[in-house]
Order: sequence, then C-alpha cells, then structure tokens
Amino acid sequence: MANQGVNDPVNLGRRRFLTATTAVVGAVGAGFVAVPFIKSWNPSTRAKLAGAPVTADISALGENQRLILEWRGQPIWIVKRSKAVLDALPTLDGELRDPKSENKDQQPAYIKGEFRSLKPEISVLVGLCTHLGCSPEMKAEIRPEPFDPNWKGGYFCPCHKSRFDMAGRVFQGVPAPSNLLVPPHHYADDNTIVIGVDPQGAA
Ligand code: FES
Repeated sequence: MANQGVNDPVNLGRRRFLTATTAVVGAVGAGFVAVPFIKSWNPSTRAKLAGAPVTADISALGENQRLILEWRGQPIWIVKRSKAVLDALPTLDGELRDPKSENKDQQPAYIKGEFRSLKPEISVLVGLCTHLGCSPEMKAEIRPEPFDPNWKGGYFCPCHKSRFDMAGRVFQGVPAPSNLLVPPHHYADDNTIVIGVDPQGAA
C-alpha cells in the first residue's frame, strides 16, 4: 500500500476502528537514561503493514523526556518540553531556515506557531533527518554543546551535522533542507495521543 502524505484526509471512523486493532511499543528516554518499554497491546502484522494508527499513553512522560514509537516504519518522537525550552524557542527564529513553518509539507495545517504542536509542552515529530534520513540525537538541555556554544536544546544529526530546535525547526547553514516532519495526530484524552489520525474536524 502506498504511504499517505502528512496532509492526506483520513477517515476518522475507520482510523478509530484500526486504533483498537493495533498497538504501541515505545520507550522513554532522557539523555543516557533508558526506561523500560511501555507496552499497551500487541499489534497485528496486518494492521502494522496497513499503517494503522498508534496510540500512546504519555502520563509517565517527564520534562525533556522522549517516548519513541514506530508508525508506518518510522520512529515517532513524543517529547515533553520544559518551560525553559519553550521560552527559548521564540528567541531562535532568526537562526532558523523556516521559523514560521511555511513549508506546508512538513506539518499538518492544524500545527501552527513556533511550538509546532497541539499542546505547547508536547512535541510530536517523525525522528528522521530531512537531509538523508539519519535519526538525530536529542540534546534537550540548554547548555553549551561542542557543536554550538549557545545551544538552547534541540536535535543534532551526527551524520552531517544538521541541527534542529526542540520544535524540529531546522537551523540555517546545515545540510537538512526543511523542518522535521510532524505526523498527523490528536489527543483521545489528556494523556492519550493517537498517531496517524487528525483531530476531529481538522481540515
Ligand atoms: S542525514 Fe542528517 S545531516 Fe545528513
């Protein structure tokens, strides 16, 4: 089956049915800390091949921690950003290639602003560099890094040194041409994110 684009319309009723038939296997990590897998229920192979939605419980996610899921063969990052990180995001606009997310291919239409998220603190991204598809490292803390003495938190791709902020916005002067992709998603409730289905009523 061909992959759907990020803005493809979805059939919410069908997606809801598929949500009930698929599964989540994720891991939360912050820095070098590995936290055990979170497992909700087992996916059927057919559902995975069909690109069925994936549901994640984010209630245990701490500040600057990341939950990693797989959806349509891609890593999906769900990150809870600290207030300091959120406060830093607007200060970075002048260093970024597409600070206002004007490239419409990189996020659904309902993802707006410098946070690029439905809720300010929760970021959802496809964890693949937009240069050649490596998986960037998360460097969520605001502290000097060897590749940037003024680092405000973000993602660093070691393959060819592309940098992205904590909203997945790409910096100027790096090989990656565009911001990290935001997949279609919505909240089923305060602590449950469904990857692969737009919010009800979203264009
Ligand atoms: S793949 Fe990330 S910089 Fe080249």
